[in-house]
Amino acid sequence: MEDQFKAVEIGPRSSSVIELVKDFDWHKDKAILLEKDPSWLETMAQLYKKNPNLKPLIADGSKMPLPNDTAELIFSKDLFCSHGVETILPDGQFSGKPSVIEIDKIAQESYRVCEAGGQVIILETAIPYGKNSQALSEEIINTYIRAGFRLQDHHIGADINNIFKKGIDGSTGEDNFALVFIKPSPPEENPDPPVFPARR
Ligand SMILES: C[S@@+](CC[C@H](N)C(=O)[O-])C[C@H]1O[C@@H](n2cnc3c(N)ncnc32)[C@H](O)[C@@H]1O
Repeated sequence: MEDQFKAVEIGPRSSSVIELVKDFDWHKDKAILLEKDPSWLETMAQLYKKNPNLKPLIADGSKMPLPNDTAELIFSKDLFCSHGVETILPDGQFSGKPSVIEIDKIAQESYRVCEAGGQVIILETAIPYGKNSQALSEEIINTYIRAGFRLQDHHIGADINNIFKKGIDGSTGEDNFALVFIKPSPPEENPDPPVFPARR
């Protein structure tokens, strides 16, 4: 496995934006792009070859082929809220199968792979019609806290851009949110319950 990677992106498909995360320097930091759907491999290999620091890999974020305590950053964009939504294929057709996103397994696996003091950043900018973004963000927060993380930041609406070098496409929606978690060192036995910010 890649020995000197700094970051992991789960579910990038053809739209990785990890290089826009403020703490990620794509001129020198390596990231593994873990995509579960093998139909994206060729597209990803073509797309990301322009940046040798982004390494596409077909693998499941709930079973990462990565060692313990190694990643400084585990990032995802529009992964969790796509649960139950039909996925799209590289040719633009729909797969006919809804995605199943196992939040608890991905949270536990992220805890294993993240180094102490490392961060998880979860960005959601495409809340499916009829879903409640506050309930979704609270479910993710509770699941990551149960896995051992501490919530460091919770950005809502256009504030999500605080954590990027420049504005993310489609980032103005007021339902958007970005969660930043840290893996505490030493592990916390009785973490404080989360405080959910009031919505505008
Ligand atoms: C809605 S798409 C988002 C793609 C991209 N991040 C974006 O913002 O456009 C979700 C992606 O996550 C991938 N995915 C779903 N579950 C995954 C898992 N357990 N591990 C890795 N990738 C996963 C899907 O195959 C899909 O490509």
